[in-house]
Amino acid sequence: MSLICKHSLYAANRIALNAAPAAQRCKSTWFSEVQMGPPDAILGVTEAFKKDKNPKKINLGAGAYRDDNTKPFVLPSVREAEKRLVSRGLDKEYATIIGLPEFYNKAIELALGEQSQRLKAKHNATTQAISGTGALRVGAAFLSKFWKGNREIYLPTPSWGNHVPIFEHAGMPVKRYRYYNPKNCNLDFAGMVEDLKKIPETSVVLLHACAHNPTGVDPSQEQWRELSQVFKQRKLYPFFDMAYQGFATGNVDGDAQAVRIFEADGHDFCLAQSFAKNMGLYGERAGAYTVICADEQEAARCMSQIKILIRALYSNPPIHGARIAAEILNNSDLRSQWLKDVKLMADRIIDVRTNLKNNLEKLGSTRNWQHIVDQIGMFCFTGLTPEQVDSLMKDHSVYLTRDGRISMAGVTSKNVEYLAESMHKVTK
Ligand SMILES: Cc1ncc(COP(=O)(O)O)c(C=O)c1O
Repeated sequence: MSLICKHSLYAANRIALNAAPAAQRCKSTWFSEVQMGPPDAILGVTEAFKKDKNPKKINLGAGAYRDDNTKPFVLPSVREAEKRLVSRGLDKEYATIIGLPEFYNKAIELALGEQSQRLKAKHNATTQAISGTGALRVGAAFLSKFWKGNREIYLPTPSWGNHVPIFEHAGMPVKRYRYYNPKNCNLDFAGMVEDLKKIPETSVVLLHACAHNPTGVDPSQEQWRELSQVFKQRKLYPFFDMAYQGFATGNVDGDAQAVRIFEADGHDFCLAQSFAKNMGLYGERAGAYTVICADEQEAARCMSQIKILIRALYSNPPIHGARIAAEILNNSDLRSQWLKDVKLMADRIIDVRTNLKNNLEKLGSTRNWQHIVDQIGMFCFTGLTPEQVDSLMKDHSVYLTRDGRISMAGVTSKNVEYLAESMHKVTK
């Protein structure tokens, strides 16, 4: 109690009892030691964007899909699924601790494919999760409690900004391996393999399954095969984060190649899935977490422990988003509409990449912008320096994070010329 002012506790009680306000005040309170934390980097960009009065302003910070009018996009398949759900007049009872089986069973099948041997053999412990973040957090809690190997998790450099706090909150120290080559804006595969070969055996290694955030740079199929062998030789444990299945190329099976290669090579691994991007279910928080185990019995034991962890973390997951995803994944007409919707989003992003590169070249930029079209998924790691980013925001009202990442989802046929002009001006 030494740091806490007893008078303010007493005063708080009196106020609660509707008594006269305490005459005596003092500075020390329960949370007087709490320091102001830094604002979230991406939300900060959006705040600055909102305040800007320039009609040409562009927000390339947030990782959410926008249509060609920069409007949020609700997928036609999602609208239809919702209509069908509402017409059934469903109740709002709790789901089970691990959510809706018609959702999570289809979710893992989407990742591993209908022919997956491990799923047929029931080697999976799968739970619904609170979107991708929640899936990662449940996975972190599970590994933190039960991982018998080296208790460090290795992340690529760079990685999604939330990976570090998610694993650190769960008590897993974070280390890094090389991934991106800033000089050529591409994959540093040799550096990656060299680092992976030095990581202590039995470590957990996080892999972005596709559309790496923030770089948009993925290993090729051949490189995934090689990585799978390195993981085997070094006895590393793969933790896949798949937040963009379908979003990278428009093909959900093609985007799942990394996990499927590791499965075919006989790895045990775990996987976090998100339906935020590929179904546009951002705020609905639909995701899944799976541990692929050695056999059915091990899977049952892991599942029982995952349930115990979830019960204490959030009890059970939200149902609406999972119902929508289940409706889509379980009905062939909705599923084929959804595959078209995913392709539409991916194709728009692929088109606008070409458009941006062409516009930069048309303006006479002598820089090599090939990486804009070579990178995939929602993001482009432009190679712009923090100073160039500052100038883009200050002088051109183009908003992005200071690492030079732009969300291609914010680029449209209408603003791409202005964006190219602005990028050209700050890189001349
Ligand atoms: C790499 C990666 N993993 C996970 C997520 C989790 O997203 P959500 O929790 O919205 O599903 C994101 C979202 O941006 C991401 O980029």
